Amino acid sequence: MSKVIIFDTTLRDGEQAAGGSLNIQEKLEIAKQLEKLGVDVIEAGFPVSSPGDFKAVECIALEIKNTIVCALARAHPKDIDAAWEAIKGAKHPRIHVFLSASDIHILHQLKKSREQILEMSRDMVTRAKKYTNDVEFSPMDASRANPEFIYQVLEAVINAGATTVNIPDTVGYAIPDEFGRLIEGIFSNVKNIDKAVVSVHCHNDLGLAVANSLEAVKHGARQVECTVNGIGERAGNASLEEIVMAISTRSDIFNLTTGVNSQQIYKTSRLVSELTGFPVQPNKAIVGANAFRHQSGIHQDGVIKMPITYEIIDPKKVGIPASSLVLGKLSGRNAFRERLAELGYSLGEEDLDRTFQAFKELADKKKNVTDRDIESLVAEEMRTVAEVYRLERIQVTCGDRGIPTAAVKLTGPDGQILADAALGTGPVDAVCKAINRLVNVPNTLTEFAVKSVTEGIDAIGEVLIRIESQGITYTGRGADTDIIVASAKAYINALNRLLASRKAAA
Ligand code: KIV
Ligand code: ZN
Repeated sequence: MSKVIIFDTTLRDGEQAAGGSLNIQEKLEIAKQLEKLGVDVIEAGFPVSSPGDFKAVECIALEIKNTIVCALARAHPKDIDAAWEAIKGAKHPRIHVFLSASDIHILHQLKKSREQILEMSRDMVTRAKKYTNDVEFSPMDASRANPEFIYQVLEAVINAGATTVNIPDTVGYAIPDEFGRLIEGIFSNVKNIDKAVVSVHCHNDLGLAVANSLEAVKHGARQVECTVNGIGERAGNASLEEIVMAISTRSDIFNLTTGVNSQQIYKTSRLVSELTGFPVQPNKAIVGANAFRHQSGIHQDGVIKMPITYEIIDPKKVGIPASSLVLGKLSGRNAFRERLAELGYSLGEEDLDRTFQAFKELADKKKNVTDRDIESLVAEEMRTVAEVYRLERIQVTCGDRGIPTAAVKLTGPDGQILADAALGTGPVDAVCKAINRLVNVPNTLTEFAVKSVTEGIDAIGEVLIRIESQGITYTGRGADTDIIVASAKAYINALNRLLASRKAAA
């Protein structure tokens, strides 16, 4: 069976999603997980766009050994030089050059002629080729461009050395049948197409990104660009897990494989959601909380008798653990460690001690500790690593009569204990104001969301907070059975990320 190359752009196009911002450590953590997942290419970022992005791509390039690390560049010499500077340490480096090719973009945005676009494309691929043999070219907005012009551009860039040509549906405008015909047209009209891999990059504005990508695969495309959980610019990109599982589940139709280890899908999805702060919708295919839940009696009856009656994928195949053990307050450290291992976590002794302690505290408040609770605990403990400020104590009074008041005690950067109090319009506002008096970093809170991890009155509450400072958004998360404590943790987490990113940029 021939293989479809999975090109993951979670760290580049995915991070372009409104409100998404990851620090270098988080990008590295995701890149390592993507390598474990078995993607073929990691698009690590757009180095010329900011010093932070440059650094992140550079770190990923040095760290990742088994996967191609790709850097994005516009068709400008300085972009290509910066892309190479950032990835030159990679074992398998790739430069991805893009330039608009639709008349809409060429005339209204770039104010150039088709001839100029053709020349820039050819020249910039030649420039990238001096640095590395692995060069990808994307004629941006290809699905709205003149197909004859796309054929011409592709032939020119392949002659200049492009080894992959990527066809983007940049604004998610294409319809599957039409997009399939575009790919078919490329194979029959570009003379040297056999010298390059044909790739596709579909956006989800009409909810068709996965359908368009699969149609392109049916017509010969052998690389798909996608993101974990489908995150990305506007409505997002084609979802990696949906592409991979469609190809594998319907091998009768595709007769193709991917190099992805599907058992790592769920873990990767959780990590990306956790670090980007973008929740996964419950009905999301493959990784949503309800994706394998059967509500109707008839379906439940069928699944009990034979899962295949209503389940087209075994949840274990995508790494969703079948809970055999329910943990509670009598569970010991070994049972806890075993459960962590089944969930795919292997913590060092120190992290294990802290997480086990947190588990014991939770088990005192909650009768049954579920897998989702454990995932939330691990995430919470990992968040507290390398923090500048840490929440020590918090006390809030509120109600319909009194003025909401919060007193907080934090450990500061040098280990000193800091304490203050503030009034607010509500308890969360009072908490944030009290923390602001101690941390003193001007910012605006732009988003606040609470959700419960599991059902039940004793569930852990997860809070997501986004703050904006100097035009940059920082996301913070916190979890606790008390949502005011979770809010304080989330706010401090966002502030810590802001401070860490300023320190890294200094
Ligand atoms: O959507 C798009 O066209 C892109 C290109 C840079 C490939 O992201
Ligand atoms: Zn894109």
